[in-house]
Amino acid sequence: MTSLRSRRALLYMPGDNWKMITKSLTLGVDSICMDMEDGAALNKKEEARATIVKALQELDFGASEKLVRINAVGSGWEKDDISAVLPHRPDGVVLPKVESREQIQWASDLIAEAELQNGWPLNSMRMLIGVETALGILNLKEIAPHPRLDAIIFGGEDFAASVGATRTVDAIELLYAREAVVTACAAYGLQAIDIVTIDFKNIEALRAESEFGARLGFSGKQIIHPAQVEPVQSAFTPSESAIAYARRIVETFESSQREGRGAYALDGKMIDMPVLKNAQKVLARAKAAGKEIKDLK
Ligand code: COA
Ligand code: MG
Repeated sequence: MTSLRSRRALLYMPGDNWKMITKSLTLGVDSICMDMEDGAALNKKEEARATIVKALQELDFGASEKLVRINAVGSGWEKDDISAVLPHRPDGVVLPKVESREQIQWASDLIAEAELQNGWPLNSMRMLIGVETALGILNLKEIAPHPRLDAIIFGGEDFAASVGATRTVDAIELLYAREAVVTACAAYGLQAIDIVTIDFKNIEALRAESEFGARLGFSGKQIIHPAQVEPVQSAFTPSESAIAYARRIVETFESSQREGRGAYALDGKMIDMPVLKNAQKVLARAKAAGKEIKDLK
């Protein structure tokens, strides 16, 4: 699999809000997602579309990824949304509330058509999808293998609404669906992007939720406010001590293999193949996040 760009934090803003779009360029955030869906009011859908087109035409996003979130298939807006933005070449399209492979195929076909017409490399424009309903979770097995996908974004508020769960601070009611998304992503080499912390003034809660998401296996998190960029991006970057430990595992594993030992002890803990694989993942994530990691194959 080709290596995916780092998406530790994915920042949304309403697509009609020019001020927030320009502000987002100054934040050093991995991904910027200009929203036509739930962040844009019903009477602002067209304004959002036009403002996003202007942003794609005029603004320099620097190292940040420029994404657009269109309205869901079946909303009635999706065709006009995607047709408006594709000629202006966003880095990727976010399709929300995905429940079937056909919905991804619909968008992927339109993207392929734009790539062909404009002479852009085929498959260069990526898709990220929201899976955030009961049916979406049940159909992950058919959804996740689609070749256009880079990532699955889990929408916690939508999922809670879909199953009638009450949201709590520790989000225990979302655990099954979060782990289902992480598992499907791992099975098909995708990134998994975790829930929004909507209590955006509470940075301690944000840090705790980000660290828990990273422990579950998520590679990044959705955010909605500039103050959330730093805590989230650092929670999804392996710490210096985690990197150093992972390096020691990789190095000692090789010599242990040469000596004919599949399992061995390091600092009083058993190291074997799965521990090595996890260490390699830590190093790959650190590298994707811009850390200097030498001789990583
Ligand atoms: N992206 C970029 N800039 C943002 C931003 C965002 N998501 N949210 C706030 N800002 C900017 C504000 O414009 C303001 O800029 P300024 O200091 O230059 O004037 C600054 O950050 C501080 O904003 P603040 O006053 O703390 O926020 P608020 O109370 O005005 O708005 C929200 C709070 C939650 C309504 C707002 O952050 C928001 O709309 N977030 C995105 C919501 C969204 O897109 N939801 C759909 C996807 S889940
Ligand atoms: Mg949603």
